[in-house]
Amino acid sequence: MQEEIGKKQKTAEVLDACRVLREQNERFFAETGRRKSAYLLTFGCQQNEADSELLAGLCEEMGYEITRDPNEADLILANTCAIREHAEKKALSIIGGFKHCKEQNPDLLIGVTGCMAAEEHRREELKKKYPYVDMVFSPASRHRLPLLILEKQARGKRVFCPEERDLSMPEGLPVLRESSYRAWVSIMYGCNNFCSYCIVPYVRGRERSRMPEAIASEVEELVKQGYKDITLLGQNVNSYGKDLPEAIDFADLLARLDRIDGDYRLRFMTSHPKDAGKKLIDVMAASMHVAHQFHLPLQSGSDKVLREMNRRYDREKYLATVAYLKEKIPDVTLSTDIIVGFPGETDEDFDDTLSILSEVGFDQIYSFLYSPRKGTPAAVRADQVPKEVKAARFDRLLALQNEIGLANNQKLVGKELRVLCDGVSKGNPDLLSGRTDGGKIIFFSGDPSLTGQYVTVTPMRADAYALYET
Ligand code: 5AD
Ligand code: SF4
Repeated sequence: MQEEIGKKQKTAEVLDACRVLREQNERFFAETGRRKSAYLLTFGCQQNEADSELLAGLCEEMGYEITRDPNEADLILANTCAIREHAEKKALSIIGGFKHCKEQNPDLLIGVTGCMAAEEHRREELKKKYPYVDMVFSPASRHRLPLLILEKQARGKRVFCPEERDLSMPEGLPVLRESSYRAWVSIMYGCNNFCSYCIVPYVRGRERSRMPEAIASEVEELVKQGYKDITLLGQNVNSYGKDLPEAIDFADLLARLDRIDGDYRLRFMTSHPKDAGKKLIDVMAASMHVAHQFHLPLQSGSDKVLREMNRRYDREKYLATVAYLKEKIPDVTLSTDIIVGFPGETDEDFDDTLSILSEVGFDQIYSFLYSPRKGTPAAVRADQVPKEVKAARFDRLLALQNEIGLANNQKLVGKELRVLCDGVSKGNPDLLSGRTDGGKIIFFSGDPSLTGQYVTVTPMRADAYALYET
């Protein structure tokens, strides 16, 4: 109850700040005939994309137009990722380029948020080496953007938003979605798992679930607006509800959302193999709207490595979950994440990963070279795997997965599939692209006006990554 009042106060405070800035921006428009614009740059995962849609909604509420060109922006926001070093380096290099924009326009405001902005050493680096960055705020503070702009105006000093004491996330703020038919819906924030390689729990804080009513009314509204594909987001959706006063778990939430009438698909990510249980799979199998797609990050096929990663499941448990999934939902599309070269990974450990890939027969894998993250236990281990060894293992993994993915996709050749059309293909303007109910990419011919609609396509050929009508 106390928390709900707190959330309402936060929402009111943020919307008030938006109003003050909108009035300012209206005056600016009246004086200059030009509307101020905001440029948003997003790195990382779907959670970050969802956060950026909220930031874009706030920008619009503050009276900014959204621009695709940083050179013409009055406000630049970089929503960063910290999951691997490469993501951070890329973000820092692009943020470095914004120095030039600031030189062109000294009134430009530059904000850095996202997971990198929550790391103490990166905040220091931004403070010292990027003096043209005006505001730095972590994902838990993303809704504070309008307040931070006002603070910057009032004090004339750069704003480094301190860690939130109250991590609850306000409801009812505006969201500007990229797509008119695919939507992200965060159901929870943060992570409590502390896998030994992972930075997420340090940068996104402890798990906080949204109230089921708030999620249900957002999904209902999306379906009413014609959204066809809704992905529920959380770092570990299976923990949903553990922190709520009412007894509800993720399977209950999914069953409740599934009762919303309409022509749409529900998806979710990410599940943790230690918690993905029979109840959830049963709900999926019996549902009307839940897509037959499951992303279940394995990380490694070696029990020793899984133990050292603090994953709290073993190969046997993982395989039992997959077996149950396949039994209940025979046409399920399965994908996973694999980390190659975790400290101490031997050739035998890696062979265990290869063998489980063949055993499961994943439709798709997302594979990553292990990247040491400052502050995590695995980063300080002495037995880091040499770069060349990681790279060679990575190549073997991809070669094997290409064979498996191809064989799986070929099984769909000649079958009628329901596809949500994403419009003209970026790679080939003569074709449309879309995704099957199972989430596979498919290319086909048709009119671009089909974008955002369901069509039936029969693929005649396949490769390891996609299906093709001709
Ligand atoms: N190095 C490499 N990959 C990582 N992931 C998470 N942390 C790291 C890291 N330090 C991968 C995991 C996770 C995915 C989102 O990113 O596979 O599931
Ligand atoms: Fe997303 Fe994790 Fe990257 Fe944060 S660190 S943006 S949670 S992938």
